[in-house]
Amino acid sequence: MEMQEQLRKIQQEAAKELEKIADKSGLEEIRLRVLGKKGQLTQMLRSMGQLPPEERPQAGQMINAVRTKLTEQMDEMEKKLREKEQEKALEREVIDITEPRAHTAFGSKHPLSLVEDKLISIFTSMGFDAVEGPEVELDLFNFELLNIPKNHPARDAQDTFYIEDNIVLRTQTSGVQAHTMLERKPPIRIICPGRVYRADEVDATHSPVFHQMEGLVIDKDVTMADLKGTLDIFAKSLFGEDVKTRFRPSFFPFTEPSAEVDLTCVACHGKGCRVCKGTGWIEVLGAGMVNPKVLDMCGIDSSVYGGFAFGLGIERIAMLHYGITDMRLLYEGDVRFLSQFRED
Ligand code: DAH
Repeated sequence: MEMQEQLRKIQQEAAKELEKIADKSGLEEIRLRVLGKKGQLTQMLRSMGQLPPEERPQAGQMINAVRTKLTEQMDEMEKKLREKEQEKALEREVIDITEPRAHTAFGSKHPLSLVEDKLISIFTSMGFDAVEGPEVELDLFNFELLNIPKNHPARDAQDTFYIEDNIVLRTQTSGVQAHTMLERKPPIRIICPGRVYRADEVDATHSPVFHQMEGLVIDKDVTMADLKGTLDIFAKSLFGEDVKTRFRPSFFPFTEPSAEVDLTCVACHGKGCRVCKGTGWIEVLGAGMVNPKVLDMCGIDSSVYGGFAFGLGIERIAMLHYGITDMRLLYEGDVRFLSQFRED
């Protein structure tokens, strides 16, 4: 009888405490106190040895019944606590989709990249491959194979950055012509945009690092009319259908004949303005028919193949295209300037 009373007390007390607990640690405390190794019920089971043998089975049953009941209640409580915790977590982590987002500043492509992309897209649509070449270049490729002899003014120490006697920072992208001719068999149709270096003072129209794009076509029966037609399409795609091209005789060691190529002024459409100094024309490209000497030096039989080449400054195109009058703006990284340019 005494044991029954004790059991009921343990059960009632535990049940009452269970109602009040607020968290898992409270629950574990009760579990330990009642059901743990040294817990109240465990101790009662242990002390059964003191009972007369005939009472033991019944006592054991009663203790175990209480144990089962309490275990169930505790498990139930544990489940409730877990649910409550989950609910709280959901409340805590709720996302307010109506809250205005923090301002995010979007970057934009650099105007030089925009123009370069555009040039690449115009020429690749005409079947040209865009290729790259090294910026640190052998004298051989930057000069020698392009028919620029040792005493040519373009090699002047004032113009060229020398790394070693025979290694330079390329002064032009034209060296990629030589690389390509030595690597590929005709027909060849490539453009090569990239950085070039010259020992120039920085001013509104000069920078020691700037960008060029080279073009080269090698095939049988290539004529100057192909060059003119290609550059016409290029000029119209870039600046509009009413733009015309004009060739003026010029000299480059790697082309013969050579030409300076003018476009009708993009600012005044040929009427004459400050941009074109009243002439209605702006000089944009150098071009010509590839010098047979260059072909032969680069392993292409000049009695079978011919070609044309051209080169332009990407800064110049960008400045004309966007109406930028000072080249330094392109390199200063001022976000107020740069953020004005978007892809169109
Ligand atoms: N490399 C020349 C320069 O830097 C530009 C040029 C002119 C490239 C005529 C050519 C060309 O391929 O045919 O001024």
